[in-house]
Amino acid sequence: MTPKRILSGVQPSGKMHLGNYFGAVKQHIALQDEGTCFYFIADYHALTTIQDPQVLRENTRDVALDYLALGLDPAKAVFFRQSDVPEVTELAWILATVTNMGLLERAVSYKEKVDKGIEASVGLFTYPMLMAADILIYRSHLVPVGRDQVQHIEMTQDMAGKFNRAYREIFPIPEYHLDKESKVPGLDGQKMSKSYGNTIGVFAEGKSLRKTVMSIVTDSSTVADPKDPDRCNIFALYSLFATEEEKAALAARYRAGGMGYGEAKQALFAKIEGYFAQAREKRKQLARDASIVEEILRRGAMRARAEAQETMTLARDAVGVQAGYIDSMAQNVTK
Ligand code: ADP
Ligand code: TRP
Repeated sequence: MTPKRILSGVQPSGKMHLGNYFGAVKQHIALQDEGTCFYFIADYHALTTIQDPQVLRENTRDVALDYLALGLDPAKAVFFRQSDVPEVTELAWILATVTNMGLLERAVSYKEKVDKGIEASVGLFTYPMLMAADILIYRSHLVPVGRDQVQHIEMTQDMAGKFNRAYREIFPIPEYHLDKESKVPGLDGQKMSKSYGNTIGVFAEGKSLRKTVMSIVTDSSTVADPKDPDRCNIFALYSLFATEEEKAALAARYRAGGMGYGEAKQALFAKIEGYFAQAREKRKQLARDASIVEEILRRGAMRARAEAQETMTLARDAVGVQAGYIDSMAQNVTK
């Protein structure tokens, strides 16, 4: 049996925060030992919201640095930029011809984005088709995602099934794997999210991190008052980093009274600093020489593209368009 192929994409959308890390990245990195992983930076998708080339390039580099610093191992996972495999847009077109308008019209994520004020471009509307192409071009079996992406995976299943029935069985029907369901709270207790401006950055440190942690919203109880750990943002965040014993010890101090929120914030600050210390060092090291990350992405792209081209040869042949001499033409041109 071929080993399980695991694939996920991440949008290059700015500074990584604790919600992204505990909600998604940590799981992605853990899965690199469970099968062949394809992880990519979804820069084509980001064009639906970012229209500044400089920002897109910077964000793409940032997210690459973040993942590598946090433990993505390019010797285990194929790590690349979506746009380095342009065949994916070709497959998106072929999939478009087996996709019902109604299917895309039911996309919740599209409606939510338009409600938020993002331009209702054709690209935004057909976003799930490109996402399906991302998944199917590597003939992936498992797609780790957050709950908000599940509908897109179901659409992918639909498209793959339709293609397989209309032509021939090329695509495995992918399953989703729900990232850990933890809803990391932000500074104000709402879900941590860039769009709410309530985030704590994974790579923030020192004074700026301390200032952010100190701004976590708490109730107005005094130092002497007993406190409820289960209704406290500081405690919820602390729990992400602490062992069971540490959690129990802090909970007991909350309940006993006599401890102020300032002290709990200090304990959280120390945890965050310690937990990410190594990753921060690694990120600084990697950032010193841009060619290191570039080389990792280039190698990843070569592996990914070879897979994608194999799938496209099958897909082109199945639908009856030319099945591959374009590639040999390209090789002749570069000779
Ligand atoms: P944001 O809400 O900051 O824009 P994204 O939508 O880009 O974050 O999320 C990227 C990934 O991080 C998704 O898989 C999402 O499920 C996860 N994620 C984001 N915020 C949280 C959170 N507060 N708790 C858990 N997971 C989160
Ligand atoms: N849409 C995903 C998100 O916003 C990113 C993404 C693009 C993706 N292509 C993918 C995720 C393919 C999984 C598989 O989080």
